[in-house]
Amino acid sequence: MKNIEIIGGNRLSGELRIHGSKNAVLPILAGCVLNHGETIIRDCPDLSDVYSAFDILRTLGCIVEFRDNTAIIDAKNVNCYTIPDDLMRQTRSSVMFLGAIISRCREARISRPGGCDLGARPIDIHIKAFRELGIDIEEAEAYIHCKARSTISGGKVTLDFPSVGATENVMLLTAKSNGTTVISNAAREPEIVDLQNFLNSMGANISGAGTSEITIRGAKSLHNAEYTVIPDRIVASTYMCAAAASGSEITLTNIVPAHIAPVISVLRNSGCEITLSENSLTLASDGKLIAVEGIETKPYPGFPTDAQALVMATLATASGTTMFVENLFESRFKHIAELAKMGAEITQFKQVAAVRGVERLHGADVSATDLRGGAALVIAALGATGKTIIGSTAHIDRGYENLVKNLTLLGAAIKRT
Ligand code: UD1
Repeated sequence: MKNIEIIGGNRLSGELRIHGSKNAVLPILAGCVLNHGETIIRDCPDLSDVYSAFDILRTLGCIVEFRDNTAIIDAKNVNCYTIPDDLMRQTRSSVMFLGAIISRCREARISRPGGCDLGARPIDIHIKAFRELGIDIEEAEAYIHCKARSTISGGKVTLDFPSVGATENVMLLTAKSNGTTVISNAAREPEIVDLQNFLNSMGANISGAGTSEITIRGAKSLHNAEYTVIPDRIVASTYMCAAAASGSEITLTNIVPAHIAPVISVLRNSGCEITLSENSLTLASDGKLIAVEGIETKPYPGFPTDAQALVMATLATASGTTMFVENLFESRFKHIAELAKMGAEITQFKQVAAVRGVERLHGADVSATDLRGGAALVIAALGATGKTIIGSTAHIDRGYENLVKNLTLLGAAIKRT
C-alpha cells in the first residue's frame, strides 16, 4: 500500500464538490436486497468500503454494476443468506445486512464482528431489537444465526442507546413486513433520514426518521427505484478542517449546511469565516486559529465523533487549550500519539484530551490509525512545516474518494509514494 507524502505550507484555493455519503450508502445498498428487482443508486461514492458492500451483495446472489458513481443492483436472484467470514472482516458495516437478509430470506448467518480500530463494537442492541421483533437468534462464539419464526409482524422496540446501526437494521428488517413497528430512542442522524427516504422511494411507508421515534408501517412489496445519496457530511468537515488548518479559502458544493452545523460552529468560534448558501459554503481562514470551549462528541445533532480527530488536528495549532471528550467510542484517540510526533501537545486521560495549541506542527513519519484518525494526519500535515509521510493509508481510502487528487487540484503538495 502506498504512503501519502505531503509538504506542508501551501495555501488551498478553489472549489470542490463533496461526494455521496459512505455511511448513508452502506445501509442503502443493504436495502437493495429487499427489492426483487433492480435498484439504481446515484452519487454512490467510489470507496473500498462500498466495494466490500458490493462483494457481499454478489455473495448473496445480486448482480452489481458500478460506473461513474452509479450503482445498479439487480437482486432478483438472491439465493444465499450467509455472509462469509472474510467479508465480515472487511467492513464492520456488514452487520448492516442482517435485517435486510432476514427480511428477504427469513434467515441470516454471519460470523461475529470482532473489535475494530475504534475498540470493542458490540451488536447487543441490534440483537435485542431483533429478538423483540420475534426473530430467533443463536449466538455462538464464532457466528450469529437468525431465523424469522413466521412472518415479521412488527412491534414496539426501545433501543437502550440511539445506535445508528441498530436503528437502520430494524428499519431494514421491518420495511417489508405484515405489521407496524415503532422504534423509540432511535438515532436521529441524517443517514437515517436518507435510509427512510430511500426505502419510501421503493414503496415503503416509514415516517419519523430524524426524530427519536420512527414508525414503520410494513409494506407488502417494494418496487424498483432510483435514488440519489446525500452528500458526505464528514468528508465536507474534513475539507473544511484542511482549509482552516492551512490558512486557506475554499468553496465546497453539494453540502447540506444543517448536517454539518456543529463543525461549522466550532470552526467559526476558532476564527474561520464561513459563508453559507443553500448547498454550498466558503470557508476562509488566516491560519491564526484560537482554542474553543470544550468539544464533546454526542449522537446527532451533537458534535459527531467522526469529526473529533479532524477538529483536534485543526486546533493543535490554535492559541490556547481545547478540551475534547470522546463519548461514543472507547479507542478513538489513537491519532493523538501520531499528532504528537508532529509536535502537537496533547494530554490524554481516558476519554478526555487537552490540546494545548502550538505555533506550528512539523513534518514526521506517521501512520493512519483508523479512517478519520488518518484524515486528521492529512489535515495536520497540510498546515505543518516540512514533509510528512503517512503510512497505512488503506484506512483513509475506506472513506475518501480521490483525496490526493482533490487536494492537489486545490493546491496542496501531496502525492502517493
Ligand atoms: C455509525 C457510523 C460511524 C459513526 C457512528 C456514530 C456507519 C457505517 N458508521 O457506526 O461512522 O462513528 O455511527 O455516529 O454508519 N453500541 C453498542 N451496542 C450495539 C451497537 C452500538 O454498545 O449493539 C455502541 C457502540 O459500541 C458505540 C455506540 O453504541 O459506542 C454508537 O454506535 P452506533 O451508533 O451503533 O455506531 P455504528 O452504527 O456502528
